[in-house]
Amino acid sequence: MTGEPKGLGGNLTDYGDADFSAYLRRSFARSMGYSSEMLRRPVIGIATAASGFNNCHRTTPEILDALKRGVVAAGGLALDFPTVSLGEVFLNPTSMMYRNLMSMDVEEMIRAQPMDAVVLVGGCDKTVPAQLMGAISAGRPFIQLVVGPMMTGRYRGERLGACTDCRRFWARYRAGELGSEEIETVEGNLAVTAGTCAVMGTASTMACIAETLGVSLPGTAAIPAVHADRLRAAEATGRRAVEIAAEGVRPETIVTPEAVENAFRVLLALGGSTNAVVHLTAIAGRLGIEFALERLNALGETTPVLVDLKPTGVNYMEDFYAAGGVGAVLRELAPRLHLDALNVAGETLRDRLSADAPYVDRDVIRPADEPFRDDGGLIALFGNLAPDGAILKRAAADAALMETEGRAVVFDSLADLAARIDDSALDVNPDDVLVLRNAGPRAAGMPEAGYLPIPAKLARRGVKDMVRISDARMSGTAFGTIVLHVAPEAAAGGPLALVETGDRIRLSAAAHSLELLVDDAALAKRRDKLGPPASIRATRGYRRLYLDHVQQADKGCDFDFLSADGGR
Ligand code: FES
Repeated sequence: MTGEPKGLGGNLTDYGDADFSAYLRRSFARSMGYSSEMLRRPVIGIATAASGFNNCHRTTPEILDALKRGVVAAGGLALDFPTVSLGEVFLNPTSMMYRNLMSMDVEEMIRAQPMDAVVLVGGCDKTVPAQLMGAISAGRPFIQLVVGPMMTGRYRGERLGACTDCRRFWARYRAGELGSEEIETVEGNLAVTAGTCAVMGTASTMACIAETLGVSLPGTAAIPAVHADRLRAAEATGRRAVEIAAEGVRPETIVTPEAVENAFRVLLALGGSTNAVVHLTAIAGRLGIEFALERLNALGETTPVLVDLKPTGVNYMEDFYAAGGVGAVLRELAPRLHLDALNVAGETLRDRLSADAPYVDRDVIRPADEPFRDDGGLIALFGNLAPDGAILKRAAADAALMETEGRAVVFDSLADLAARIDDSALDVNPDDVLVLRNAGPRAAGMPEAGYLPIPAKLARRGVKDMVRISDARMSGTAFGTIVLHVAPEAAAGGPLALVETGDRIRLSAAAHSLELLVDDAALAKRRDKLGPPASIRATRGYRRLYLDHVQQADKGCDFDFLSADGGR
């Protein structure tokens, strides 16, 4: 409990006279037309991330209306405020670079302004992690409300959803199977409503993780953006926000080590986005909760993949919602979950799951004893090429490539990749291993470039997948045998910097290993020749802060001074 809600009397501006500060604030608040009765109510802040540069958050105004309706009905005063917005495809070099900036904005504006609780409205990939990181650090009672996923579109009778189908059709276009008119028609039908990407990409995965962590109301993660249930969820969230303001529910009572482990388990069962590993690590890190990648592998041994959604399956988020959503997955996983974990509705997971089981569409969400695969969708790899780990989404990989050894074809940077990948003179074969370096957190902001395109000359021969390794990330909507988040990155002195074209690399998903088959003495010589990694500096502004403080992927790419023990 944090005591009685303070309403607008909290967090007074410092003029050296508290009574004067309160008087002045009331005076200015009255200029907005509120009655005295309204100004005495508990204040529920609503952090919004609407922007003309963020298509996914287009429904924010009507969500706000419904949220405020709920807050007012429950006796609160709802005051919304804007924060940084991260529209995934509108940011250069990559939204990931700005996740921590948004988290700082969210944290500081919650802390600085007078609010007894806060509702976070977001959805597009990095916004939910940023909001959770910021709100957890601010320490106020909060509820996450996601904007919800898009509905699918149609192309010649085929369902289309951003963004797995974006990639699938682009690969066909690159392979010469589609002409420019056809790809333009596809382009117009991939993202046809407001909302976040229509598949189990990063946004949907993080929405499901938020619900599993217990920071969203039960049953709300998968409601489509344009469904009326989304507005009812907003109204209910507003009502509940007033209650948690009075109860003083602190973030650490919800986001516990057990809740974090539940969330990782659900991530595995969803076959969810690789990005969620980084984000959930950073979110947990804000409370000093460490989650080692080795634990991910241990959970993966006993967590089946239960959900048949793109990019690993065939269905879309609207199907997942109609099929039963996160609740149905939690019910199947119940024997493996920490059932004492609390949610923001004030119930334990055990309470939540004790209600009668609703309808479940088994074509979309399987029972635990008839899963889509017996083990989890993601694994961590370790070895001399990834001493601090790397991630492989095995649920989206080609089974024939999971135990493999191949010749490395190395690209030294994103620019090198762009310059040579489609060069007809590129010496590359289908059983080679494509390696991209200098695309990690420090070198490039860790863009979603790990989904290296199949070289054009191989794509035209029908090659659909190859082993690809990088220190970058990939979109949660992508698929293939792709090893990501290699840590440390090349620019931080990681062994990826030592790989030469022609080296042999061995990948074993079964052994969780990634090995560069070059002996230690030869690697030591290469390291001596290479010298220490070049210093990457920025002279000013946020980029300087970012480069001075960003950590590696195994630490969630959070800033060192923002993690729970970072400032001490
Ligand atoms: Fe916003 Fe995919 S672009 S979630």
